[in-house]
Amino acid sequence: MSSSYLILTTIIIFLLIFLYISWIFISNEIENKKETGERRDFLYTASYALGAVGLGAAVWPLVDQMNPDASVKALSTTEVDISNIDVGKSITVLWRGKPVFIRRRTQEEIIESQNTKLTELKDPQKDQDRVKKPEWLVMLGVCTHLGCVPLGGKGDYKGWFCPCHGSHYDKSGRIRKGPAPTNLPIPKYEFVDNNTIKIG
Ligand code: FES
Repeated sequence: MSSSYLILTTIIIFLLIFLYISWIFISNEIENKKETGERRDFLYTASYALGAVGLGAAVWPLVDQMNPDASVKALSTTEVDISNIDVGKSITVLWRGKPVFIRRRTQEEIIESQNTKLTELKDPQKDQDRVKKPEWLVMLGVCTHLGCVPLGGKGDYKGWFCPCHGSHYDKSGRIRKGPAPTNLPIPKYEFVDNNTIKIG
């Protein structure tokens, strides 16, 4: 049983106790005053409240089981050892069924990417806004046109080239030419330490 289910069960028990005590208290009051109209109103209200609590208790397990369990959460992140990637090399890892390109860029690639004028870009974005560390470019390897996987080191800008319909990306993964509308997306990631990246 999950902790959220236990908490809800506890809340329901307290609510039931509260309603029961209220019921006794108000019943006694009404007995004294002989006001049957108030008693009927309270009975309706208490019935609705109990019904709502019962419905919540019945539905909660169904809602709760929709939450991802620990194994699914673990699958949604991927830790990658980057210690063996040489300067100028890339690797591709799978994350949530999609390829992620991790490239250790050379100084020339970094300088070229940083010096590109935004006015030259179809989807203007600074290189600095696409990386956490200039040396490491981490991005989804999914063409933003129709989802093919671009090829590294190809195309007019020697970044990535999508052969499906001819989209050219630069060394920062920004779209420069072809039908793709936007840059290659940057997934959520962080550096766990100098040799490990956690994607997701
Ligand atoms: S899917 Fe890449 S250019 Fe069409």
